[in-house]
Amino acid sequence: MSSEPVRDVPARGRPGFGVAAGAGGGADTGAGAGPLVGVDAGRLRPAWAEVDLDAIRHNAAVLAEEAAPAQLCAVVKAGGYGHGAVPAARAALEGGASRLAVALVEEGRELREAGIDAPVLLLSEPTPAAMAEVVSLGLTPAIYTPAGLEAVVAAVRAVDTGAPFPVHVKVDTGMHRVGATPEEAVALAEAVSRHPELELEGVWTHFAVSEEIGNPYTARQLAFFEDTLARLAAVGVRPALRHAANSAAALWIPQSRYDMVRCGIALYGLAPDAGATSRPPADRLRRALAIKARVTYVKEVTAGERLSYGLRYRLQRDSVIATVPLGYADGVTRGLSAVGGEVLVAGRRCPIAGTVTMDQLLVDCGPGAVVARGDEVVLLGRSGDEEITAWEWAQRTGTIAYEVVCGISGRVPRVYPDAL
Ligand SMILES: Cc1ncc(COP(=O)(O)O)c(C=O)c1O
Repeated sequence: MSSEPVRDVPARGRPGFGVAAGAGGGADTGAGAGPLVGVDAGRLRPAWAEVDLDAIRHNAAVLAEEAAPAQLCAVVKAGGYGHGAVPAARAALEGGASRLAVALVEEGRELREAGIDAPVLLLSEPTPAAMAEVVSLGLTPAIYTPAGLEAVVAAVRAVDTGAPFPVHVKVDTGMHRVGATPEEAVALAEAVSRHPELELEGVWTHFAVSEEIGNPYTARQLAFFEDTLARLAAVGVRPALRHAANSAAALWIPQSRYDMVRCGIALYGLAPDAGATSRPPADRLRRALAIKARVTYVKEVTAGERLSYGLRYRLQRDSVIATVPLGYADGVTRGLSAVGGEVLVAGRRCPIAGTVTMDQLLVDCGPGAVVARGDEVVLLGRSGDEEITAWEWAQRTGTIAYEVVCGISGRVPRVYPDAL
């Protein structure tokens, strides 16, 4: 641990978010101070998630270009992987996506209520009880059971949709999560084709290990998918949208792109695998999410003292300890300190000191560090020449970047600096 002092940056006057508690602890109303989304974003509690929509636009353009002539479907489930579903969806569409995908009917409704009218694919078959809402919202359901087919037919018949209602039959080629077997999928697709009120717009599958480049299991899945398509073609069924690829496959398995790719993680600038960040074309993606906060309290603590719940972090020397108003209820993993978790303070890596608590965490800024209340702390993202990525955090805690970004909870306000 270096004892180099942490640069003291006055909270006021920085471009940003009009947060409360500057170096002197005074309140700042935030009026006119910058890109707030929601009245209280970063103002009442100085902690926020900063989302670079321009990066999402750029990533969509990169993915659309790679996938062409296949269409890009932007996966914006789980609140756009933590980035905000509606702004992420809009940015992706602006960047070159032509379609969207979500997991839940509720997520589709959020997009429709925001006025987004692009086609929205539901990645799981809705329950029969949800089907009327699916139809009235104009969402495109995945179908993989006869009960699902029956429910969508009934829902479409109950209203006048004006045109055949599109559905996508999902075939399980080896992931074994959801989807019809190839045989069932052929029967379902044929059944859809016999219903004039429906249109078999898509047939699709999902890979289990596509991020493991060269894993023969993906080739096996592709072979099952090809076989299903061939059997459909043999009975005269040729859906307009055959799709299989997630981000990894869209980036690195050209033969899996078919007519559409469904990209989530890459849209947000993260490689699908920790080791693939610099592998072209993932090296052209820009990370879109930063998690930031301002120091709310600073004190000197003497050598030998132990910090936070469980007293698991013992100071080897006198040190400056900063309190940061983010905790595990915000999605910051409780055990991050024990596995070497760090944050950035004025471009310098500092260890998280002891157990992350529900609403706050402590940072060991080092002996003699000059840190003030109101200073910015970066948990994810860049500061100076340093960057902490979701993959770094994920690897420390034994998970994947997907879980880190999706885990940033709803109580952390999202701010969109380039939206204003
Ligand atoms: C069915 C399906 N398609 C596509 C995706 C997007 O995957 P990725 O984020 O790896 O691009 C997901 C994500 O979990 C998914 O469940």
